[in-house]
Amino acid sequence: MIEILKKIPFFAQLPKKDLDVIIAQVKMDYFPAGYTVFRQGDSAPLMYIIKRGTVRVVRDGRVLAELSDNAFFGEMALVSNERRNATVETVTDVELLTLGRDDFKNLMSANPDIASMVSYEVVRRANALS
Ligand code: CMP
Repeated sequence: MIEILKKIPFFAQLPKKDLDVIIAQVKMDYFPAGYTVFRQGDSAPLMYIIKRGTVRVVRDGRVLAELSDNAFFGEMALVSNERRNATVETVTDVELLTLGRDDFKNLMSANPDIASMVSYEVVRRANALS
């Protein structure tokens, strides 16, 4: 698992002691092409990092983005404490890493670089919603 995490830019910058903590928290998930990971309006227990594959982000029937290897999604509802603002469905078979709400928030509090990367993306994505 540590080799997997080190290859993912989201985690690569973390020191070994933090990676050891993350290893205990991250889970791997696999979905086939054409699968709905979650729907707009769902409540939000997890955020996701794409290890391999492509997903599509759809809001009100409009495709907002396609995200592939190393991108993350599902962070907005965790940061804002709101419901999912879009549906995410798989385009290809995907391998995902998932992190629970509290572990994700703790990771951001303890790692300013990750917090600023996530905040940057949240602002950019929020601007694209309207
Ligand atoms: P969340 O609101 O938890 O669930 C839907 C996810 O889609 C959202 O978090 C983001 O991760 C992602 N998302 C929303 N808007 C965009 C966008 N414009 N570009 C890329 N991803 C987005």
